[in-house]
Amino acid sequence: MSLLRRALLAGSTNHWLREQATRRVFVRRSVSRFMPGESVEDAVRAAAALRSQRITTILTRLGENISRPEEAEEVTQHYLDVLRKVASAGLDAQISVKPTQLGLDQDPELCRANLMRLVECAEKLGNFVWIDMESSPYVEPTLGLYRKARERSPKVGVALQAYLYRTAKDVEELMPLGAAIRLVKGAYLEPPSIAFPKKRDVDENFHRLACRLLGEEARQPGAVLHIATHDIALTDRLIRFIDETKVPASAYEFAMLYGIQRSQQQRLAREGRRLRVLISYGDYWFPWYMRRLAERPANVLFVARNLFG
Ligand code: FDA
Repeated sequence: MSLLRRALLAGSTNHWLREQATRRVFVRRSVSRFMPGESVEDAVRAAAALRSQRITTILTRLGENISRPEEAEEVTQHYLDVLRKVASAGLDAQISVKPTQLGLDQDPELCRANLMRLVECAEKLGNFVWIDMESSPYVEPTLGLYRKARERSPKVGVALQAYLYRTAKDVEELMPLGAAIRLVKGAYLEPPSIAFPKKRDVDENFHRLACRLLGEEARQPGAVLHIATHDIALTDRLIRFIDETKVPASAYEFAMLYGIQRSQQQRLAREGRRLRVLISYGDYWFPWYMRRLAERPANVLFVARNLFG
């Protein structure tokens, strides 16, 4: 892992930096590249615009690690409201939540109850809830939450990170449940004792796991895979696998983040591949933004250009 990436990921959890950055106009201007705005209305407008390009969406409010149970209630109410807004706008826009926003650190039982409320509401409205995967200490409790929610409803999926060694085993264990899985490379700073330190090994593991999840055995119980990456070479390699092995279109969707690899997004949509774009909004964007910078060092130059531009 490069020094710059390590520094950016370490900085993502620094309070002083967050205070400074959120006040700076040039940083806010750079953030707007990845975020249509801070309010849910901004996100819904962006989702409607993407719909005209035949791209569906996922909405997520930025925020993590709340400190009081009342905040978890506020977040849950917010997402219940988003599910209703999306239904009345007639949009195909799912939601994605972080367990630490729903109270995982304060009270796992409260977090589970909040998640169930969202999943039940989504099921009633014909929608779907994704559970984000956060840093490694949260993997086990998040998978526990997912299993409980999946027992109640098929309208819930979970993200798995290809950089973790454990993920191959998690995939095997989740497959018989017909689990909806969003496969990502992984965005946090993790030690080499638990995560592949080399990018090429992460990429290879992503490919291996995706092929496994697109295979007959995983598809049988009705699994849907979200192939969540902006990596064009990896995407093209998986498209070849999909076409050669005749994976039905209902078994997978591509997923990307708002504002990243737009031409690739348009290409996939033009080719008739199902694509969902995850739109983030909210005022707590600093740690999330630092992770986006860490994913591509050229983004730091982009921020610097905004400083003078
Ligand atoms: P990679 O980092 O190899 O990037 C491939 C290419 O894409 C780069 O060369 C660059 O051209 C472009 N690119 C990638 N990131 C960019 C950026 N920020 N700005 C500009 N260009 C960029 N992680 C996690 O730990 N838990 C989660 O729940 C999720 N959820 C999630 C949902 C969705 C829909 C996506 C797409 C991603 C996530 N992630 C995530 C983030 C994920 O783990 C990963 O950090 C990023 O997707 C970057 O990795 P790539 O797979 O895109 O490949």
